[in-house]
Amino acid sequence: MDLRIEKLKRRDLRYLLPIENKVFPEPWTVGVFNSELALRHGRLYRGAWDGEHLAGYIGFLMVDDEAHMTTIATAPDYQRAGVASTLIIDGIRTLLIMGVKHLSLEVAAHNEPAQALYRRFGFAPVGVRKHYYPVTGEDALVMWAYDIDSAEYQRRLEDLGLEHRSDDGNVHR
Ligand SMILES: CC(C)(COP(=O)(O)OP(=O)(O)OC[C@H]1O[C@@H](n2cnc3c(N)ncnc32)[C@H](O)[C@@H]1OP(=O)(O)O)[C@@H](O)C(=O)NCCC(=O)NCCS
Repeated sequence: MDLRIEKLKRRDLRYLLPIENKVFPEPWTVGVFNSELALRHGRLYRGAWDGEHLAGYIGFLMVDDEAHMTTIATAPDYQRAGVASTLIIDGIRTLLIMGVKHLSLEVAAHNEPAQALYRRFGFAPVGVRKHYYPVTGEDALVMWAYDIDSAEYQRRLEDLGLEHRSDDGNVHR
């Protein structure tokens, strides 16, 4: 599958919101996405496109040399095909250019698929936020990946052997 990774725009929300509503028990509203995408600094939102189909998306919030992954989702029809991994690699490459060194995120304590994905990228649990999710009341694990600018971390990414970026800017798997 050839994926095109692009900055998310407000007009992409008509494709994004149906995915959001399908995959999250507590989906973000259009208002939340609009305000996130309107911020000119301190945010990175990217979408993975298979032709005209939005396959997945990812978001980060940046502060100094740290970035927090605010969201990641893959459309149900595209899951387990490496879309989220490709988005994370692309995000990391982009964040490294911006000087980011450490990544954090929260993940629902029972979301084993997402935790497995994050472990592949070197995220390790460092704490628990009790009853973090207001609707489900579920706890969140706080996970960090430190020193993503290190040679060791670059080797980890290379070992995943997931993608290469060709001259046309597309990501091929
Ligand atoms: C979590 C999620 C983003 C993964 O997206 P994806 O595009 O399917 O992920 P990938 O194909 O890149 O998976 C990479 C690895 O993650 C792990 N993984 C992904 N989905 C998994 C699942 N359902 N069960 C177990 N491991 C899983 C596996 O290690 C997988 O590698 P493998 O397929 O070679 O075994 C997707 O399941 C999703 O959108 N879930 C709903 C939203 C969500 O929970 N987001 C995270 C919020 S913190």
